[in-house]
Amino acid sequence: MTDLKPARILAVETSCDETACAIIENGRTLLSSVVASQMEIHARYGGVFPEVASRQHVLSITPVVAQALVQAHLTLKDIDALAVTQGPGLAGSLVVGMNMAKGLALGSGLPLVGVNHLEGHIYSAWVYDSPVRRGDAGEPVPPEPQFPLMALLVSGGHTELNLMTDHLTYKRLGSTLDDAAGEAFDKVARLLELGYPGGPAIQKTAEGGDSNRFHFPRAWLEGTWDFSFSGLKTSVLYEVRELRKKSISLPIPDLAASFQQAVIDVLFKKTINAAREFGAKEILVAGGVSANRPLRQIFKAQTEFPVHIPPLSLCTDNAAMIAAAGYQRYALGHVSGLEMDVLPTWPLS
Ligand code: KG4
Ligand code: ZN
Repeated sequence: MTDLKPARILAVETSCDETACAIIENGRTLLSSVVASQMEIHARYGGVFPEVASRQHVLSITPVVAQALVQAHLTLKDIDALAVTQGPGLAGSLVVGMNMAKGLALGSGLPLVGVNHLEGHIYSAWVYDSPVRRGDAGEPVPPEPQFPLMALLVSGGHTELNLMTDHLTYKRLGSTLDDAAGEAFDKVARLLELGYPGGPAIQKTAEGGDSNRFHFPRAWLEGTWDFSFSGLKTSVLYEVRELRKKSISLPIPDLAASFQQAVIDVLFKKTINAAREFGAKEILVAGGVSANRPLRQIFKAQTEFPVHIPPLSLCTDNAAMIAAAGYQRYALGHVSGLEMDVLPTWPLS
């Protein structure tokens, strides 16, 4: 168990296209979480349009923060510290959340902690909904992830395997050499004309498909813990071209299912092998792609390692995860100064 000082953290997250604010107690208990999604706006462009994203954050940030406080039945006087996503992400988007958080810190005198968005994704696995919010009192508290922990981070911009030997301690074993897993989902969805965001669209379409119909390549990159998804994406492209050349109507569900299976096979096997090799006790999977149902199922079905995957609402971008990571940093005294700036390319380790 974490044995740190009790604290309520209010966090702000605006690194990409979700404007979010959440309040967490003691690093785990969710008191409120508000996410204003811009998905419908960006779907028109087939991806996130940075300038539009930052303008939309400006419109949403104040009501989102107000709503998070109302939802928790709290005021700023009940909060112990503030956290904000400092990076990585879109500079123009990060700045909006950063300015809001600095304004709140200046106005309230509360300490402010800058949080790495990727660290936030990892800490989403610590968060659970408060029994009061859920409307029941009897649910047991889900177990806290135990170290050493093998953490697979799979989002739209990142795919990496980290060994965590303690809180906030990451040894990056490998990462993608080209596309991130989520990026591959998005690109293949565009190729198959399934829309944006690609991950949920591919998952849904794949439900009616045969994952063994096409044998797309798996880049094992033996001897390393790195990943590569760009060859797989190109392979889907060539298959689509061949089918079109032969005037065969595209078996979209089979293509989606076969692609999805290829991604899952690599993510799953490499993570399990790394956990064995490095003596991890448990596995953690986080980031937008961890919302993928077949991926969740395959990890949960294996019984060798306890697996922590955040609830669906916390897999994609949210502020609860920033509050959870911010709590760990705040508890260790990592408070940032008001001169802190956004770090659009900040790596986790
Ligand atoms: O973590 P996230 O919300 O944003 C980043 O920090 O990048 O991840 C977004 C990514 C997108 O590429 C999206 O297509 C993918 O997560 N994603 C999924 C699913 N839901 C979201 N990928 C596969 N299956 C899903 N169900
Ligand atoms: Zn993210």
